Amino acid sequence: MNKIRIVGGNKLTGEIKISGAKNSAVALIPAAILCDEDATIYNVPNISDIDALNEILEYLGAGVKRDGETIKIDSSSIVNKKIPKGISKKLRASYYFMSALLGKYKKVEMYFPGGCSIGARPIDQTLKGFKALGAKVKEDGDKYTITADELKGGYVYLDMPSVGATINTILVAAKAKGTTIIENAAKEPEIVNVATFLNNMGAKIVGAGTSQIKITGVDKLHKCVHEVIPDRIEAGTYIIAGALIGERLKISNIITEHVESLTSKLIEIGVKIEEGEDYVIVSRADNYKSTNIKTLGYPGYPTDLQQPITTLLTQCTGVSEIEETVYERRFQNVEYLNKMGAEIKINDNKAFIYGPTKLKGKSVTATDLRAGACLVLAGLIATGETIIDNVDHILRGYENIIKKLGDVGAEIELLDI
Ligand code: EPZ
Repeated sequence: MNKIRIVGGNKLTGEIKISGAKNSAVALIPAAILCDEDATIYNVPNISDIDALNEILEYLGAGVKRDGETIKIDSSSIVNKKIPKGISKKLRASYYFMSALLGKYKKVEMYFPGGCSIGARPIDQTLKGFKALGAKVKEDGDKYTITADELKGGYVYLDMPSVGATINTILVAAKAKGTTIIENAAKEPEIVNVATFLNNMGAKIVGAGTSQIKITGVDKLHKCVHEVIPDRIEAGTYIIAGALIGERLKISNIITEHVESLTSKLIEIGVKIEEGEDYVIVSRADNYKSTNIKTLGYPGYPTDLQQPITTLLTQCTGVSEIEETVYERRFQNVEYLNKMGAEIKINDNKAFIYGPTKLKGKSVTATDLRAGACLVLAGLIATGETIIDNVDHILRGYENIIKKLGDVGAEIELLDI
């Protein structure tokens, strides 16, 4: 089993180049099967979630050519087969195949998706989107059989701005007959990246990135090339690393607007940040002030950076408060931060962080992807050695994290025990 060993205290200086966005790439790859010819996607991160999706593509008979960060997908010869439970459960994004196959073949059989255990994560809003377009959903335990005699444009008012439900409804609506309106849509940049990809194939999608999206179905989607946007959550994680122990640490190849909710918070705390065209330079400063954070959908503060910033809040003077409004179980990192010397109390969906506290290296566990990232950040500043186990969670979502941090001065290694 893989573990990560970190000896804390080294200043981080130099440049970290950000990879393509995991949460965009994992939607673009399934969306590619809607294309009646081949689709080429650039800047795809080399992480295990992508491998899992390529496994599904190959299982369906698609041609997948991977060359570094470029993937060429030819779906002209795919066959619509039931996707086995084991593959469906590997990641949350497997359910994008549910909508892509439904959109392409009007029938799909697969299982409830996997993903980090940070809450119940139902898919009721995705199913609501499918039904609004004329699909019938048969549930048998966690197996779903979804069919439609015809997919017709419909009206969907999402109960909450769900990223997955927004993308899934777009994928089914792209080739449906007529026009679909999604109200209360999620506005994440990854949704815009997916909509642009489909429009490059000839789809007719307007309003992605706003709370109302209109999709006019088309018959054919032709070949296209597209690029994954930079990963704003990876970028945010390393920007926080710079705030913790950076000395003019440059985080480059980013879209600064996508991390604004974080950088504005960091400036409030007292972090020194210089912003360029497609980069930021971050340095650790002294006397950080506590602050309050409430996680919201984009452009609010992202839930995926809630656990990473908790490490920084342990270094702020005073009591910081985090209100987690998106997931019901996203504080599993706190137990391990407290084991390292932090002072954090949880009350329902709020965490209270008393700082500053000195962190000491300990053996800890990554319970989910972003909790793991939080513990890596803690290891970078803790005195002594931190050993993190269960790190496959981390390797799913952060391309080359060991090399990226090692190259800027961290004493970090992957232990294959
Ligand atoms: C995407 O998950 C991301 N994952 C998550 O990132 C991210 O935290 C989340 O969006 C919110 O930004 C991928 O893109 C693969 P949601 P998704 O549907 O689409 C509830 C990471 O760390 N909900 O916006 O699953 C749900 O339970 C991961 O990279 C319903 O109740 O998120 C959650 O509480 C973690 N019914 C909230 O809405 C539904 O049908 C947000 O879920 C759908 C969602």
